[in-house]
Amino acid sequence: MKMRLIIALVGLAGFAPALAAQIPESEYAQRRAAFASRMREGFLVLPGAPEPARDYMDFAQEPNFFYLNGIDEPGAALVMVKQGTTVTITLFVQPRDPAREVWSGFRLGTDGATARTGLPARAIASMDAFVDSLAAAHQVAYVPRDERELTARLRALKPSLTVLGIADFMSALRGRKSPAELDLLRKAIAITVDAQNLAMRSISPGMNEFEIEGLVEYTFRRNGADRPSFASIIGSGPNSTTLHYNRNDRFMNAGEMVVMDIGASYRGYAADVTRTVPVNGEFSPEQRSIYQLVRDAQAAGERAAKPGANSMAMNIAVDSVIKQGLAALGLIESHDAVYDCGGERVAPCSQHRLFYMHGLGHAIGLDVHDPGTSGIQVGTLAPGDAFSIEPGIYVRSNLLDIIPPSPRNDAMKTRIAAAVRRYANIGVRIEDDYIVTAAGVEWASRAPREIQEIEAAMRDRVHVPRDAGKIEWYRTTGHQPRTTP
Ligand code: GLY
Ligand code: MN
Ligand code: MN
Repeated sequence: MKMRLIIALVGLAGFAPALAAQIPESEYAQRRAAFASRMREGFLVLPGAPEPARDYMDFAQEPNFFYLNGIDEPGAALVMVKQGTTVTITLFVQPRDPAREVWSGFRLGTDGATARTGLPARAIASMDAFVDSLAAAHQVAYVPRDERELTARLRALKPSLTVLGIADFMSALRGRKSPAELDLLRKAIAITVDAQNLAMRSISPGMNEFEIEGLVEYTFRRNGADRPSFASIIGSGPNSTTLHYNRNDRFMNAGEMVVMDIGASYRGYAADVTRTVPVNGEFSPEQRSIYQLVRDAQAAGERAAKPGANSMAMNIAVDSVIKQGLAALGLIESHDAVYDCGGERVAPCSQHRLFYMHGLGHAIGLDVHDPGTSGIQVGTLAPGDAFSIEPGIYVRSNLLDIIPPSPRNDAMKTRIAAAVRRYANIGVRIEDDYIVTAAGVEWASRAPREIQEIEAAMRDRVHVPRDAGKIEWYRTTGHQPRTTP
């Protein structure tokens, strides 16, 4: 609690503790050493992301490469060789080239890369020959699974070479975050919370989803975020029930809910926070029922999220609240009711999965769905874990069409049809981010989320200048929003 207060004050004062929020070079060296300690004798080839292929799109570094050295330039690679107890590491980078740099900006070059990391560096053009010589001399190569061309080349060069992936090692390393990483995550989360606050204070009937998307991403960038950590989801009305909706081009109406699932990426670290609010600022009785149920489920998940807890306990707690609540609303026949889900599955499915069909949460880090073995997915929660808890309930207007015909299902459809009509097009997801420290599980994404907090925030409107003429122009020039039927 005390820790959170300090962070909040530092955030308000507008200066982050600069050194704490940077990953020190010594930490990168420790990460490389940890990778090497897991390797068999052999070599690793880890390419970074290439220059974006089309249209000078912005560059985002490959997370595993970034994790091991923090180099944020395109066209680089890291090669690590383990022989006996000796580990040698070489960085390959684009060399300085003043004429090319006119177009794409200054490069670190080999000297700059060495000065930054302490590692020997060579021109990327010399890497293939270097790697070929390693293949000739070793029996084992580590290459990321998606580097298919490189893998094929090595296999062709030496069919007896054992080529292994790196996903397991990287999951183990990236799962538990260092204090410096957690600081960067907190920063990403704080910026995302700012965006949620501005978004909910700006929404009113008649606005388009893209106006909110614009405000969100404006808030990200003007606070120093790199970019959104995934495509922003601003889904109103029927779109609130589409899990990965991101066209964000529908005009919003009074009486609808809008799901805002957004996350800033800050120095590579991804936040992921969802708020769902009524477009007109006040929850209707139906919206209130569904919202409170999701919020109660999330609270049950939070109570179960303790250091040492596993995700099974969290899932059981959340499922139990959702099942009881859906049964009370008449959306499922009883808390433990099942239906014939068809397809390959022989065993029946729980009816609550028709309304809550995604996972409870996931680790966050350099990826928004981080590969870490955070306790949210496997194992138990421990200091260094960072994760989301994001229950949801989605009542699609055509929900009954999802249920395959069968005697049991037909009876069920008859019994829930009225409730489905009553709550149709209400989709609610509430997603928060948590960080585990020695002091316990910290709720890091403190945007308004109780019903009365959201209604109060939406009464406290921010006036955002908008050009109603241009928005009207959009409405009348071939606008074809894609929604559920
Ligand atoms: N925004 C993606 C997710 O919630 O997992
Ligand atoms: Mn999300
Ligand atoms: Mn998420």
